[in-house]
Amino acid sequence: MKVHESLKSSDLEEERLLLELDADRLPQHIAVIMDGNGRWAQRRHLPRVVGHRAGVQSARTAIETCASLGISNLTLYAFSMENWCRPKAEIDFLMRLLRGYLRKELPTIHRNNIRMLVIGRTDQLPDEVRADIDRATEQTAGNTGMNLAVALNYGGRAELVDAFNRILDRVRNNGLANARVDEEMISRNLYTAGLPDPDLLIRTSGEMRVSNFLLWQIAYAEIYVTETLWPDFSRAKLYEALLDFQKRERRYGGLAQERHRVMA
Ligand code: FPP
Repeated sequence: MKVHESLKSSDLEEERLLLELDADRLPQHIAVIMDGNGRWAQRRHLPRVVGHRAGVQSARTAIETCASLGISNLTLYAFSMENWCRPKAEIDFLMRLLRGYLRKELPTIHRNNIRMLVIGRTDQLPDEVRADIDRATEQTAGNTGMNLAVALNYGGRAELVDAFNRILDRVRNNGLANARVDEEMISRNLYTAGLPDPDLLIRTSGEMRVSNFLLWQIAYAEIYVTETLWPDFSRAKLYEALLDFQKRERRYGGLAQERHRVMA
């Protein structure tokens, strides 16, 4: 097949999947564990960092696609607290890549009315990364379109520890000896305060793990795991994940609609 013919057929496939989507039943918050950059590169006998570079393009595609579908919240797991265990050269490359992304994409993000947030222990990131994060979050703070949360130096357990400590501080500082914690209070003190919980969690590259990502928030999320490696996660692959989500029956521990009616 010639290149232009294969391009055309992938465009057609994209179009076909898009037409199948029910615009009224899209998730309101998609969280993504972008995994498989290293393997994508290794399979091509390329250095791992080439996979990360290709991963940035997939992130761009996912952001653009979610924004154009009108999805209100997208959270991307870009760097976990555990990622510090990687070789220094790979960590330095990832930091440079993220900075490059923040700088280069900021005008487009802003133009598209996207509000950028960064979640994680950002105070432990290098100063220059923090400066880029601050610029991006401050400049887009007033935007009213999609919320794009990028998880950087993020860990789900650390987020819960930080939330509990914030609550304890408030209790101590206000002399609230009889205060009790409830779910709402915990949610309000997470890095994701103000965002709805994800209703769809996507993980690429086939691993069946949640890897310390949004542990509290994914309590009721539908989980979609695909063998596709992150750099190959195209617009069409995202549509496939959304179609799969739309086939699921979300019960939150209750009964199926049909069964409800029979039992009533
Ligand atoms: C997993 O691949 C990916 C990461 C460690 C995160 C890096 C993500 C990007 C570069 C995407 C860009 C994101 C933004 C928001 C611009 P891996 O190295 O764990 O792959 P492997 O499991 O195959 O080794």
